[in-house]
Amino acid sequence: AFSKKEILDKKNAEAALGGGAKRIEAQHTKGKLTARERLEILLDKGSFEEIGRFVMHRSKDFGLDKEHYLGDGVVTGYGKINGRLTYVFAQDFTVFGGSLSETHAEKIIRIMDLAMKNGAPVIGLNDSGGARIQEGVLSLAGYADIFYKNTLASGVIPQISAIMGPCAGGAVYSPAITDFILMVENTSYMFVTGPNVVKTVTHEDVTSEELGGAMTHAVKSGVTHFVSANEVECILALKKLLSYVPQNCEEEPPRTTYLPADENRPALTNLIPENPNQPYDMRQVISEITDVESFFEVHANFAENIVVGFARIAGRSIGVVANQPAVLAGVLDINASQKAARFVRFCDCFNIPLLVLEDVPGFLPGTDQEWNGIISNGAKLLYAFCEATVPRITVITRKAYGGAYDVMNSKHIGADMNFAWPTAEIAVMGASGAAEIIFKKEIAEAEDPAEKLREKVDEYTRKFANPFRAAHRGYIDEVIYPEQTRAKLIRAFEMLENKVATLPRKKHGNIPL
Ligand code: COA
Repeated sequence: AFSKKEILDKKNAEAALGGGAKRIEAQHTKGKLTARERLEILLDKGSFEEIGRFVMHRSKDFGLDKEHYLGDGVVTGYGKINGRLTYVFAQDFTVFGGSLSETHAEKIIRIMDLAMKNGAPVIGLNDSGGARIQEGVLSLAGYADIFYKNTLASGVIPQISAIMGPCAGGAVYSPAITDFILMVENTSYMFVTGPNVVKTVTHEDVTSEELGGAMTHAVKSGVTHFVSANEVECILALKKLLSYVPQNCEEEPPRTTYLPADENRPALTNLIPENPNQPYDMRQVISEITDVESFFEVHANFAENIVVGFARIAGRSIGVVANQPAVLAGVLDINASQKAARFVRFCDCFNIPLLVLEDVPGFLPGTDQEWNGIISNGAKLLYAFCEATVPRITVITRKAYGGAYDVMNSKHIGADMNFAWPTAEIAVMGASGAAEIIFKKEIAEAEDPAEKLREKVDEYTRKFANPFRAAHRGYIDEVIYPEQTRAKLIRAFEMLENKVATLPRKKHGNIPL
């Protein structure tokens, strides 16, 4: 007979093997790691404590009473990431394809509950064939329980989903509610219905990769915030992401040490081209003014006309939202508005101050945008900024035209500080468009209309294509030399460190979704 210790040893070894050596090999052949291997990379060495290692399903239908695996297809527990407590679940594709049963869901809920009580992030490593088909509605109930908890936890603790295999049907909606999604090229898929169903319903022939692969969701739908070439890269990106984020909504983000140095950035002096219609890369401005190599871009492949991401300024974690003049002249469209709005709201949930770099010619005109709702989508960004109570600073580098001036974190909607470079043009629209409208008659009646137009454009430019009108009013707190920007921001964010701002008492607002 086995000793009690031997029995435990045996059970531990069995649980470690999940669905067995053969299925582990199949997982490796697909270029995928197992749930336990992933956790090994994710968590600090030796820090993982597993919860529910011997949990088994209770299902009896379709022969399941004869097929049991310890852990039931998901490895759950807690550990440390860079020394900070984190709750994790990793679905094990080697057990019933990582499919979600009643007990599998219970295990996930268990760590979500602990995370909520103890104020620490939940990381999900998803790799699952969806609902455990043999369990029917019990499995659907399990999903719903998770969605509900995800929603209650939203804004309380950070929730991050890495997709490392199939994620189909109901399974997609838990990641969709969480704060960030990461996907892996060629091995992860997300779709509400797979290619076979699509073929039947819409007669479209589409591969899994095209329908819901990592690049599809990075570029077209914007569902995923990050794409990695492989699983290790994906896990490292996830760890980096966490380094900017506090443990919960009551805490401040972690700070790195900062040694005061020469904060002058002469490279910014001549960055803006003479011709206001010539593009430049706003990422250059970001990298000059933030701590060296601290910028971590979010949603890099989606709506590239706006750049968002985390960075540090003098060791402080900040969220950057920047118009990108190098893409579509930095215009605001539906996708850019949604992308930035969601990012602003995340930062505001988790006490991450916001820095806006503004060079925006306005909202994108046209039927495509209007018919798809640029009005309500643009309003999301406006609403998100209005509502944000974290420290908020804007630097206008060049164009701040029309309604977009208001939307992009102006003082009028609650920003704490607005700076402008001398190259800033704060006006209702560009000078040539403006002159054509307000001097239409004069130009038409002139002997030389082209000459008249030039004259009027010059006049409008002199009057409005500068930051001084706004500065006279106090809408701009200071017109600064570009090379001073970093130094000014370090001081201003420090000055705003203890900001207290509250919103009117309400159940919750009604953001135009
Ligand atoms: N419920 C129960 N078992 C499932 C499952 C599910 N939803 N999805 C997969 N499995 C099992 C398979 O039966 C197989 O079991 P085995 O190892 O004993 O043979 C194992 O998981 C691996 O699945 P397999 O189909 O061989 O892997 P694959 O990599 O070729 O395909 C999927 C993966 C996810 C694309 C495919 O399994 C699939 O389409 N599953 C069903 C998806 C679905 O419609 N789910 C319901 C949506 S809510």
